[in-house]
Amino acid sequence: MGLAGWTSRGCNTQVADALGDSGHHGRDAAERYDCAGGIRPYRGSLVRRNDNSAEGTHKLVIRRFQARFAPVVASWVRDDTELFQLTPTTPPPLTPEKVLAWVRPNGRAYLGFAGSRDVPCLYGELNPMRTNDEHLWIGHVLADPQCRGRGLGQLFVRGLLESGFGEFCAERISLIVFPDNIPAVRCYERVGFTLRGDEHHRFGPQERSHRMLRYEIDRPRPSASAPPPPEG
Ligand SMILES: CC(C)(COP(=O)(O)OP(=O)(O)OC[C@H]1O[C@@H](n2cnc3c(N)ncnc32)[C@H](O)[C@@H]1OP(=O)(O)O)[C@@H](O)C(=O)NCCC(=O)NCCS
Repeated sequence: MGLAGWTSRGCNTQVADALGDSGHHGRDAAERYDCAGGIRPYRGSLVRRNDNSAEGTHKLVIRRFQARFAPVVASWVRDDTELFQLTPTTPPPLTPEKVLAWVRPNGRAYLGFAGSRDVPCLYGELNPMRTNDEHLWIGHVLADPQCRGRGLGQLFVRGLLESGFGEFCAERISLIVFPDNIPAVRCYERVGFTLRGDEHHRFGPQERSHRMLRYEIDRPRPSASAPPPPEG
């Protein structure tokens, strides 16, 4: 099984390609994301471990979304306020049909499975921007309330970044979040997203204007100390 290190903001997370040797041994994150260099992207499941977690090792397997789990995902939203924070354009109540409607034809939806469980505890999407395929946005990141606050959201978002920069060769990945959604803001900042500005959007029957924060992360670049690629 191939293992590759990823270090960001003091959190040491290891990634294992569940399908076998990924060919990424010893490379840093930037090099692994060098699509033009022909480095093989991750395919299939990702297994992520947070070896620094307070409760010991957490493992998260990330797989493509399966429609049969839409009722499970719909059950994770606790109330209308939480649904509004997650998706102000989806009217309550959240139903499996509405979850299925989130998945865009050209987007990718994922599920996170904690440990060896066969029922997911996380959902999220990677979608291309309308005007630029190299710019992706993360949408609808949602965790089972039973699993929140244990670092799994951060592992999951790291997995989405891995897929976005590796499999989809993205140059930039963005998201927007309400400023008072503290767990989400904290989760995104901890995986390396930086605040790039405010956006104002009108939502709801009264079309009230809401301030949202735009967070972004750019494709990691090789560090100046990295050895040059072999010639020929
Ligand atoms: C956002 C969400 C997916 C995060 O999942 P999670 O598994 O709880 O996230 P993590 O445990 O990895 O990280 C959450 C961080 O917020 C912190 N946090 C949680 N509640 C907090 C609070 N009230 N005040 C301060 N920090 C808080 C946690 O301590 C953790 O930070 P740490 O690692 O520095 O300790 C989850 O909260 C969720 O599903 N929310 C509802 C849907 C939603 O709003 N999605 C985001 C849409 S943009």
